[in-house]
Amino acid sequence: MKFRPVRGTHDIYGDQILKYNEILKVVSHFANISHFNEIKTPIFEFSELFRKPLGEHSEVVLKEMYTFEDRNKESITLRPEYTTPMIRAAITNNLLDKLPLKIFGIGPMFRRERPQKGRYRQFNQINFETLGSEDPYSDVELIILANDILNKILPNENIQLNLNTLGDKNSLLLYKNALSKYFEDNSQNLSEDSKNKIKNNPLRILDSKDDNDIKISKSSPLIYEFISSESKAIYDQIKNNLKSLDIKFVENPYLVRGLDYYCNTVFEFKTSSLGSQDTILGGGRYDGLISTLGGPDIPGIGWAAGVERLILLMQNINNLNKSVHIAVANKNYIPHLLKLTNYLKKIEISYYWNFKYNIKKSLSNASQNKAKFVIIIGENEFNNQYFVIKNMLDGQQKEINLEDIKDYINDKS
Ligand code: HAM
Repeated sequence: MKFRPVRGTHDIYGDQILKYNEILKVVSHFANISHFNEIKTPIFEFSELFRKPLGEHSEVVLKEMYTFEDRNKESITLRPEYTTPMIRAAITNNLLDKLPLKIFGIGPMFRRERPQKGRYRQFNQINFETLGSEDPYSDVELIILANDILNKILPNENIQLNLNTLGDKNSLLLYKNALSKYFEDNSQNLSEDSKNKIKNNPLRILDSKDDNDIKISKSSPLIYEFISSESKAIYDQIKNNLKSLDIKFVENPYLVRGLDYYCNTVFEFKTSSLGSQDTILGGGRYDGLISTLGGPDIPGIGWAAGVERLILLMQNINNLNKSVHIAVANKNYIPHLLKLTNYLKKIEISYYWNFKYNIKKSLSNASQNKAKFVIIIGENEFNNQYFVIKNMLDGQQKEINLEDIKDYINDKS
């Protein structure tokens, strides 16, 4: 019997793992210089952590969570997102004593969506959160951080920052009522899915990918008619700060995000290179969420980026193999090979040998693996106790003594 991976899951190896590790490196670097501390939480939590905060009528909660009953009848869910577990962890471990708390996390999330390019059932997210600051500068700081990380990972990609405000909780309530009324009046051509959301979650109709829903949404009331002057002032401040840094953005009044906990600032970084899964990174402010989860009444803001989407967009990494490949012509030359490997270990140069006593095959293997240097042990080399080193970049070969290998490699690297 041949096992296949579960639908919507994938293995990460080869070029992809190089890109994955490069992403981790860039993220850790920027987290470090901006003073965000890493946190890792379990991949499963009690289901209640997600149901209400994400929205009982959101797609994620309605259709996508991997929820199961544990043997002691407790409902458990594989985390579909990282914001609520990170807040839970901050509360559990008393990390909210000193504010603001700036944290980041990277790891797998689980959503039972229809798999397609850029959309998986297990995928990895990079997640940054600032808890405990209502200063609009904290919004700006996180947007700049997202912008810096994306520019570093995808220097040639055309990425567009979409920005919107949902106003404060009160404005949002007025807006939702107006939307419900509008969609009720225009319900004839709405999809069945959207009709079911008119009363409970009209914001989610604005997310719909159905053509008719999109057409009807285009004439729906806009949040700007409902937001308070305070929310508007904050939004203006954020936009002005971004402009002063020359960070380009478009205002998108239909950007509402797919989870229920947002208010005020929301944003997404989008690309046109990924088809319908065009959002690389999304986030926003979630004042009220922390207290809903049992913490103090403090605001928060954050974002998450999909690692698999970044990998799909990344250029190949020029991965010249750092290890020295070895080519041996005959089993009898092993003692000479052992001298060489002992020496390479001592000078901390990694090596690779494929156990094939065939110089031609070992050289072709080295070139497939993009090795920079090959050390050859043939009859002459064994009889006269020297080596031949081949520089695979320019094809030149040189006879060399063991103790000169270090200088040669350092010179040519
Ligand atoms: P989200 O928009 O649901 O937000 O997900 C953020 C990002 O995760 C998406 O933009 C996308 O790149 C990636 N993503 C989501 N679902 C999938 C999937 N099925 N396959 C591959 N990639 C996917 C959140 O999760 C919020 N917790 C973000 C946040 C943090 N808001 C505040 N803080």
